[in-house]
Amino acid sequence: MAALRTALHGRLLQALPFSFGSLRLASSFKAADIVIERNAACKQKPDPSTLVFGKQFSDHMLTINWSEKDGWQAPQIKPFQNLSLHPASSALHYSIELFEGMKAFRGVDNHVRMFRPMLNMERMHRSAERSCLPLFDKEELLECIKKLVEVDQEWVPFSQDASLYIRPTFIGIEPSLGVSRPGEAMLFVILGPVGPYFATGSFNPVSLLADPSFVRAWQGGVGAYKMGGNYGPTIAVQSEAVKRGCQQVLWLYGEQEEITEVGTMNLFIYWTNENGEKELFTPPLDGIILPGVTRQSLLDLSRSWGEFKVSERTMGMPELLGALDSGRVLEVFGAGTACVVSPVGSLLYRGTTYQVPTIENGLAKRFHKELTDIQYGRKSSEWAPVVV
Ligand SMILES: Cc1ncc(COP(=O)(O)O)c(C=O)c1O
Repeated sequence: MAALRTALHGRLLQALPFSFGSLRLASSFKAADIVIERNAACKQKPDPSTLVFGKQFSDHMLTINWSEKDGWQAPQIKPFQNLSLHPASSALHYSIELFEGMKAFRGVDNHVRMFRPMLNMERMHRSAERSCLPLFDKEELLECIKKLVEVDQEWVPFSQDASLYIRPTFIGIEPSLGVSRPGEAMLFVILGPVGPYFATGSFNPVSLLADPSFVRAWQGGVGAYKMGGNYGPTIAVQSEAVKRGCQQVLWLYGEQEEITEVGTMNLFIYWTNENGEKELFTPPLDGIILPGVTRQSLLDLSRSWGEFKVSERTMGMPELLGALDSGRVLEVFGAGTACVVSPVGSLLYRGTTYQVPTIENGLAKRFHKELTDIQYGRKSSEWAPVVV
């Protein structure tokens, strides 16, 4: 860890020979410099009820190029188009790639809002630092993204069951096969309308495969960063889960078979603990957990309610099975931008299926309502700044 810190520190010093902070900001692109080229052939917007995640894209995209030699270039908003990359680009060979996932919502008042977008910018900045990609001013990037959403505002679905998914992406494009810090990079943002995760808002509990022979992330690794390399290798495991009749993977870690995340969601358990107290807990941010924006929001909300104990703690499979056996588990759910919350109905572990209690109007449902009320402007909150 110390060696890593020294390495990262060294890289920063290299990029910023005089001082931290102010120079780092000075070296960023600026939203005020955006050059906009409008698309002359805008597409027909799809019917929100037919949307499939990640298949449709809006009319424009944002690109910002960087090189070691010239620094950051002016951000460009231009018609959505293919990228042209050198075949030796480091993103293609060594996964020097990171991304974010966030949404814009059309509210009841027709205003478009984002949800805690600075948390995504902060996470993206941390991922960039860990990926040896150049740093940038988080506020400036958010301003550029807001501008892109404004340009494509007609793509924010006119529906309180759908939203506009925002995919900021950052790739190394140095045309060289050396395994080294990229001297050229491209940050781009694409948008696409997405439908409801749950049809007509009803919660369908998911079944999980908990198999300790598969590991998503490990101590000292990069599971806490949103890098593409963390996701590709999970697809085979997800297919294995489906083959065994499950919908998602419950990722376990270490000798204690700690429960960590569900698919690409953070994991929450609401239970009656050993002391008879109602408690909501989620695994701690100890390096193997992605710091989810939804995770943070559920923790913040429940701490503000003060109605039950809220903890960030680990739990192994033996402890979870014991609690399920003794009827102390009230609800288990995943949390993420895609669905807000997703209740868990069963676990397949070492050949046995364990039922997990689900409740029609429980805590998961309450969280879903709280967050979607904020996102769609039914409840005013500083968590959902108006973009347009
Ligand atoms: C591995 C993983 N865990 C958790 C999450 C949930 O994070 P968020 O609430 O920011 O969407 C995501 C999605 O980004 C993820 O990829």
